[in-house]
Formats: sequence, C-alpha cells, structure tokens
Amino acid sequence: MSRPVPTPSPETGLRALRALVKEGHPLAAMQVFHRELGDVFRIQLPGFTPIVMAGPEAARFVLVQGRHDFRWRNEDDPVTQLLRHGVLVEDGESHDYLRRLMAPSLHRHMLDGYTKIIIESTDQVTRTWKPDRAPDMLIEMRKIALLVLTRSLFQSDISSEMSKLWDSILGVIAFISPGVWMIWRSAPRPSYRRAIQRLDQYLYRMIHLRRQELETIENKSDLLSTLILAGLDDNLIRDQLLTMLIAGHDTSTALLSWSLYLLGAHPDAYQRVRMEIDTVAGGDPNAVANCMGEMPFLQAVLEESLRLYPPIHLGSRLAAVDLEYDGYLIPAGERVIYSIYLTQRHPAHWSQPELFIPERHLGTHPAPYNWLAFGGGPRNCIGAAFGQLESRLILARILQQFDLRLLEKRVHPHMGATLEPRPGVRMRIQQRSG
Ligand code: HEM
Repeated sequence: MSRPVPTPSPETGLRALRALVKEGHPLAAMQVFHRELGDVFRIQLPGFTPIVMAGPEAARFVLVQGRHDFRWRNEDDPVTQLLRHGVLVEDGESHDYLRRLMAPSLHRHMLDGYTKIIIESTDQVTRTWKPDRAPDMLIEMRKIALLVLTRSLFQSDISSEMSKLWDSILGVIAFISPGVWMIWRSAPRPSYRRAIQRLDQYLYRMIHLRRQELETIENKSDLLSTLILAGLDDNLIRDQLLTMLIAGHDTSTALLSWSLYLLGAHPDAYQRVRMEIDTVAGGDPNAVANCMGEMPFLQAVLEESLRLYPPIHLGSRLAAVDLEYDGYLIPAGERVIYSIYLTQRHPAHWSQPELFIPERHLGTHPAPYNWLAFGGGPRNCIGAAFGQLESRLILARILQQFDLRLLEKRVHPHMGATLEPRPGVRMRIQQRSG
C-alpha cells in the first residue's frame, strides 16, 4: 500500500523558518525539509502545496522512467502565459517537432561559428568598463549574454536597442519568477503587460524583416531563418524566439556571475584558473578560442559553480496520472518539483557538499543524475553545449584581460527565473598589463 507524502511538522516548519531568516533565502528552508523528511516531501504554503523530490533516483524517475506520466505545460503558470507555445512549455508531438526543428542550430557542429561572436561580444562590453567604477557582474554578464544570443541564434544585433529593451527584459523575467501568482492567481500587472508588449514588438519586427531579407542573405542556418523556412507562422516563431531569448541568456548570466563571485571569494582557485589561462593562451583572444580543451581547471570551476548554484534549480511538472514513487502516492494533477539544488548538495552523494571545491571535477565525471545542472533525459537542456562553450569563452577572455577583486561578499541566491547572486557581484577591475 502506498503512503502519503510526508509534510513538515510544526517543529520542522519552525526550524525551516529560522534557517530562512538566518540565510536570507527560501532554499535554506528547503534544505531543512530535505534533511528532516527525506527525498520526497510536500511543501505547505497557502494555495501552493507541491511535492518536492530530490536525489539522483528521484530525478531519474521524473526525467526518464516516468516522464510520459508528467506534463511540462501548466496553464496557470506565468511562464506558459509568456511563452505561449514555446518548446519549453509544450508537450507531446508539438514539443518533439519544435525541438527537432531547433536542435541543429544549437548542435556542436554549429558552435565553431559562434566563438568569434562570443569573444567580440565580450570585448564590446568590457571595453566600456572603467577602472574607477566597480561594475556589477550580474548586469555586465547579462549584456554579454544578450549580445551573444541574438547575434548567434537570430543573426541580429540587439546592441542599438539594448538600453530600450533592458527594462522589458527584466520585466518579463520578474513576471515568470516565483511570486504571489503561486498562491493567488490574477491577470498580469499592467507593467508586465507593457514589458511583454515591447519585447513582442521587437521580435515581430525582427521576424518581419528577416522574411523580407531571406531571399538575399547567404547564411540561412541560424535559428530565426530555420523557423521561417520551416513554414511556422509569426506567432509560433515569436514563441520560440522569446523562449530562446530568455532561457538562453538568463541562465548564462547567472552561471557567469556566480562563477565570478566564487572565484572572487576563493583566491586560490582564482589564481589557479588564471595561471591555466595564461599558460595556455597568454593574452591572445584566438588562443582562448582554440585551446578550450586544454583548460580543465576552468571547466571544473564552471561545473562546481553549476553544482552549488544551478541557474535552473528546479524542474516543475504536473502528474498526468496517479503515480507511485518509492512507496509514496503522487495523485494525478499534483505539481511535482524535482530539485536540482537539493540533489547537487545531497550529503549522501557529495562530500562536503556546501563547499566550493572545483578539484572534485578534475579527471572525473559525477555519477549520472547526481549532477544535473542541464537537466536530463530527452528533455534535457537543448542549449547545453552552447551554454558551456559560451561561459568558458567569456570567463577565459575576461580573466585573460582583467584583474578582478570582489567587493560585495554578502551574496545570497535569489530565486528569480534563475538562481541569481543578489544583491549583485560588484568587482573592482583593473586592466592587466602585457
Ligand atoms: C548555463 C546555461 C544553462 C543552464 C544551466 C540550463 C539549464 C537547463 C535545464 C536544467 C533545463 C531542463 C529544465 C527541466 O527539466 O524542466 C533546460 C532546458 C532548456 N534549456 Fe537550458 N540551460 C542553459 C542554457 C541554455 C541555452 C544557452 C539555451 C538556448 C540557447 C537554453 C534553452 C533551453 C530550452 C529551450 C530548454 C527546454 C528543452 C525542452 O523542454 O525540450 N538553455 N535548461
């Protein structure tokens, strides 16, 4: 007979509340629930009572074995209202069709063509840095990631519109972040509606222009051209572009800003990664691009950063039928969350899970589903190869050119659309000589 999923007792709830207040973020409370209730438990907030699952076995159940019994699409979620029929919120045939269509433009063989764009976009932003100002890396990494994304996947340049669209981009990210919508369903606030409208105008204009240019341009292998050539209508193309724009830049922004924060807070790792870059590439931007495979410590830093602060720290699903996992009943219609954050800090699977130890990734791969920063199974991250190349290149190029010193050390994970370092990652920068 299956058992009901455990819920926190008042004492556990109190300890979770204390952890939340002490650490300043709800994930600390989640860790208390996990420690005291195990790998499957239910959160109990007014109007929001999802089942949370953690650990490699639970992740494998949601992502692989039981995946046909879960739905990705939840009509109530702002992310569905925003992305409408974007690949991220579609199920079944429609999802598989869109994914097949878009996968080639993110495939490994396309990546070589993106390296120049990534280096140039990084340099374009870092050229504006002034030594007497301490830029916030959360903002700077977003600028770079937006340039890279639009230039590579849309063959379009957002530079001239960046300042005009900036607030709208932050607006839609706030719209899909956890918030009161979880307990109280209502129509989007007017400010969110305006943000969506402005981004829509930008995207529809870009689609319209590309339809006109398509006859004359030579390279039609980018994502936008692919979607037009496949015969999708403007609305469906807009949904995919917006999906990629948000999923493809907000994640890299978080990964890069966390990595810079962690390096700033761990001088030994910082010196080691810098020495590796200097040895392999010196000051040469081309060498950075060509020698990525020779920088294992840089790779380890990014993997450890993704382990401690996975930009997408959970996957949300709806149970399509009654399910049973590890003796627990999961009734049809329940929201199920698989927690990447808890899995990647699971004390049974990681030693010293709370510590930043990049060396743990050297010469080894973590057991499957212990580390799942890009999800897993057939609906893993479609942009994983792109995102990894991009973050390696950007980080290497910045460290190659600048000395960085972390100013704000009291940083906590903020649950936005991704897990962001807040209040930000302000760093004192100095151009390196030579
Ligand atoms: C550091 C960067 C990134 C991280 C950590 C990341 C993480 C993830 C994760 C964990 C998932 C699965 C979510 C789930 O199971 O519910 C996912 C899916 C997805 N990601 Fe990424 N991502 C990154 C970069 C990108 C990039 C660069 C793009 C596009 C250019 C992208 C587009 C997508 C899309 C469209 C999906 C949905 C795939 C599907 O449902 O078939 N991501 N990502």
